[in-house]
Amino acid sequence: MKTPILKMTNIIKEFPGVKALDGVNLELYEGKVMALMGENGAGKSTLMKILSGVYKKDGGQIFYNGVEEDIKGPKDATKKGIAIIHQELNLIKDLSIGENIFLGREFKKGFRVDFNKLHEEGDKLLKKLNVNRSSRDLVEKLSLGEQQMVEIAKALSLDAKIIIMDEPTDALTETET
Ligand SMILES: Nc1ncnc2c1ncn2[C@@H]1O[C@H](COP(=O)(O)OP(=O)(O)O)[C@@H](O)[C@H]1O
Ligand SMILES: [Mg+2]
Repeated sequence: MKTPILKMTNIIKEFPGVKALDGVNLELYEGKVMALMGENGAGKSTLMKILSGVYKKDGGQIFYNGVEEDIKGPKDATKKGIAIIHQELNLIKDLSIGENIFLGREFKKGFRVDFNKLHEEGDKLLKKLNVNRSSRDLVEKLSLGEQQMVEIAKALSLDAKIIIMDEPTDALTETET
C-alpha cells in the first residue's frame, strides 16, 4: 500500500480540565479528500490546529511523507505545504481581496508592491472559484460566504500539499458550497 502523505499517531492534547484528544490516529493519502466527522466538542478543530501548528501536541507523532516532523508553528506548517481555513474567518476587512490573499507575500516591483500583478493573480483565483468579484474589492463589502471564498482562494494560492477546511460550509449558501 502507498505511504500516507500524512500520518498522525496517538495524538494527545489536554486543556485545563479537559482531555480534548486521547490517542487519536489519522492517515491521509495524496489525491484524496477526507471528511473528519464528529459531534461538537469531539476534538476535530483541535486536531487540525495541531496539524497546522496553531497548538502544540502533548503527545503522539506526526509523519509527513513517512518522516517524523515537528510542526513548530503556523509559518512552519505553511512552509511544509499545510494550509488551513479556520472555522473563524481571518481577513482584514479594510484591505482588498487581493491584498488579503497575498498578505505578507506581495509581488514586488523594485521596492514597491506590484498591485497590478497582485490583482491579476487575485482575479485569476476568483475566476477559478467562480466568484463574481474583482480582486480590488474591499473585503468589508463581501458577504460571509464570499469572505469564505477569499480564504479558500488564499489556501489554493499557497499551492499547499494539504488543505484543511474546518467546517467551511458553515457560512456558505448551497450554491457556494
Ligand atoms: N483553547 C481551548 N481551551 C480550552 N479548551 C478547549 C480549547 N479548544 C478546545 N477546547 C475543548 O476541547 C474539546 C474539543 O473542542 P474542538 O476541538 O473545538 O471540537 P470540535 O471542533 O470537534 O467541535 C472541547 O471540550 C472544547 O471545549
Ligand atoms: Mg470545530
